[in-house]
Amino acid sequence: MSNKTFYITTPIYYPSDKLHIGHCYTTVAADAMARFKRLTGYDVWFLTGTDEHGQKIERRARESGKSPQVFVDEIVSWIKDLWGILDISYDDFIRTTEERHKKSVQAIFKKLYDQGDIYKDKYEGLYCTPCESFWRERQAPQGKCPDCGMELEFVSEESYFFRMSRYADRLYQHILENDEFIQPPSRKNEMINNFLKPGLEELCVSRTSFQWGIPVSFDEEHVVYVWLDALSNYITALGYPHNPEKYYKYWPADVQLIGKEIVRFHTIYWPIFLMALGEPLPRQVFGHGWLLLEEGKMSKSRGNVIDPTILVDQYGSDAIRYFLLREITFGADGVFSPEALIQRINYDLANDLGNLLHRSLNMIQKFAGGVVEEPSGEIEGLDRELQELARTTPGEMEKLMDKLQFSAALAELWKLIGRANKYIDETAPWALNREGKRERLNTVLYHLVEVIRIISLLLQPFMPRTPQRIWKQIGIEGQKELHAWESLNWGQIKGRIKVEKPEVLFPRIELTEEDGEKPQSREKTKKEKEDKGKDAKKADERKAGEKEINIEDFTRMDLRVAEIIEAEKIPKADRLLKIKLSLGEEERQVVAGIAESYAPEELKGKKVLYIANLAPAKIRGVQSQGMILAAEDGQGNIVLSAVERDIAPGSRVM
Ligand code: MSP
Repeated sequence: MSNKTFYITTPIYYPSDKLHIGHCYTTVAADAMARFKRLTGYDVWFLTGTDEHGQKIERRARESGKSPQVFVDEIVSWIKDLWGILDISYDDFIRTTEERHKKSVQAIFKKLYDQGDIYKDKYEGLYCTPCESFWRERQAPQGKCPDCGMELEFVSEESYFFRMSRYADRLYQHILENDEFIQPPSRKNEMINNFLKPGLEELCVSRTSFQWGIPVSFDEEHVVYVWLDALSNYITALGYPHNPEKYYKYWPADVQLIGKEIVRFHTIYWPIFLMALGEPLPRQVFGHGWLLLEEGKMSKSRGNVIDPTILVDQYGSDAIRYFLLREITFGADGVFSPEALIQRINYDLANDLGNLLHRSLNMIQKFAGGVVEEPSGEIEGLDRELQELARTTPGEMEKLMDKLQFSAALAELWKLIGRANKYIDETAPWALNREGKRERLNTVLYHLVEVIRIISLLLQPFMPRTPQRIWKQIGIEGQKELHAWESLNWGQIKGRIKVEKPEVLFPRIELTEEDGEKPQSREKTKKEKEDKGKDAKKADERKAGEKEINIEDFTRMDLRVAEIIEAEKIPKADRLLKIKLSLGEEERQVVAGIAESYAPEELKGKKVLYIANLAPAKIRGVQSQGMILAAEDGQGNIVLSAVERDIAPGSRVM
C-alpha cells in the first residue's frame, strides 16, 4: 500500500427524507475523485455518512409517528442502498447516532469547556430549524432565514456558548495566507466580507428545548448543538481522540466537498473548532454549486425533486454519473433536464464512445477474423499522432482532477475518443482490407484496440461499470495488469488478442414528448408501465411486420426543398448546428447534428430536403422545427441531401 494518503469527505446528509439527485451530485463527485486517486496510487480514505440529530429530525419523526431512531434507521438504510446502486466506494459511513461518534463528541465538548472556550449563558434570538442555524435579529430583519428563506423561530433558553472571537483573527490570517483553503475563490471572498470583516458572534453550542441529540456529559439537560456534533464527524470517524494512529494517518483532510449553502459552517465554525482543539485544518474546503431544475431549486416542499433511483433504473448508474460530472462545471450551478441527460447519453456515450468500440470491433471481426496482433509493420504519422495523444491525456486529466475540474477532465478524455474516431476515418481500414494491405490493416486495428484499452482505463473513476464491459469485448477481461494506471504506456497489449462480437454499450434513447416536458420525478403507475409495455410491443410488431409503407403513409410527410439562410454552432454541443431555413414564404429553424461534417459558413445558400411537419422538439434548449435530410455511411461521414437542379425554396418533394 502506498504511503501517499488522500482523505476526502462529503457532507453528512440529513436523513429527514429520501435523498434527491442534488445530494447524489456531491457524493458522485467525491467518489470519482476517490477512485481517481486510488487509481493513481494513493492510499485513499473516503468518508460519507448521515447527520441524524437535531430539531428538524425530531419533528419529522414525530410527524410520522415513529421514534427518531426508528425513523432515521429506515432512511439511512435507503441511503446506503442508493450509494450501492450508484457504485459509491466509500471506506467508512459514519452515523452521528453511533456510539463511537457520541463518545468522541462528548470528549470534544468537555475539552473545549475545560479550557475555557465554552461557557454557559442564555441565548435569546432566532433559529432556523431547516438549516439548524442561529441568527441575530439584525441579520434577519424580516424574520426569515437569510439562507433558506423560511420563517425563523424565536428561542430563549439557557445555552453553552463558544468564544468564536478568540480565534477570528487567526482564521482570517489563515484564509489570507492559504489560497487553496477555500475554493472556488468567490466563496472565500463571500466569507471574508459577510462574516469575518463584520466580526464573529459567539456561537451557541447547546440546546435545551428538545432532546434528540448528544447529551453534554457534565450537564445532561443540554444536547450538543447539531452543527458542532455534525462537523466533528470528519475526525470522530477516524477515531479522534481515542485512536490517534488512524487519525493522524489521514487527518488533515485533503479535500472536503460541500454545497455552497454550508460553506459558512465549514470554513468558519469548523476551522475554529479545530484550532481550539489544537488540530490542523483541512487543506481544502470546496463549495460546489447547486444542481437546479429549469424552474429553479429542487425541494421536497415544491414536490419537484428528482428521485435518483428512478433515473438509475431508466438509464443506468454509469450514464447518470457521467451526466452529473460532465454537464456541470464543479463550483458553478448547473441545470438538470431530462433532455440534456438524453443528449449526453446519445451523443457522448452512444455515438462517440459506443460507436468507437462498435465500429472497431466490427471491422476486426469482418476484416481480421476477430484477431489483432502486435504490429510488425511500419508505424506511420497518423499512428504516432494517436499514440502521442494517448500518452499526454492521463497527465492532462490528472492536472484537472487535482483542481476538481471533473467536466474538463472528461472533455480531455473525449478528445482522445474523438481523435480515435477520426483515426478510423483517416486510415480507412475498409480500403486497406479491399486492397489486401494486411500488415497495415493489422497495425491500424491494433491501434484501435490499444487506444480503446487506454480510454477504458481512464474511464474507471467516472463510470466504474463500463470499463469491465469494454474489457470483456476487447478480450482483456482477465488481464488485470492491463487495467492499471501503470499500464497506460502505449503498446502493453502483447501477442495476439481475440476480440468478441460487439455489443451495444449505450443504446440511443428516443426523446419522447414526455421527456421533453417534465423530469421523471415520480414513479410510473402500474397501469402506465403496462400501457408503455403494450405500446412498445406494438411498435416492435409494427417494425417486424410492416417493412413496407403505403402511399398514404408517404403523403403524410410534408417534404420540401429548403434553402439554408444561416447556420451557427450551438455552444457546448460539439456536433450540433442551429440552422435557419427559408421555405420561400416562411422561415424555419432546425437543430442538426452535422457540425463535424460541415462548417457553418459553407452551408449558406445550399438547398436541402426538409421534413416540414415533424413534431417540433427542443434540443439542448434550442427549438427545432422539423428535420433536414442527410445520409450517413455507418463510418461517421454525413452528407446533406440536395436537389439535382435549382428550384424555388418551399417546393414540394413528391
Ligand atoms: N447535514 C448537513 C451537512 C452537515 S456536514 C457536517 C446538510 N445536509 S443536507 O442533507 O441538507 O445537504 C447535504 C449536501 O447536499 C449539502 O452539501 C448540499 O449542498 C447538498 N445538496 C442538497 N441539494 C443540492 C442540490 N440541488 N444540488 C447540489 N447539492 C445539493 O446540509
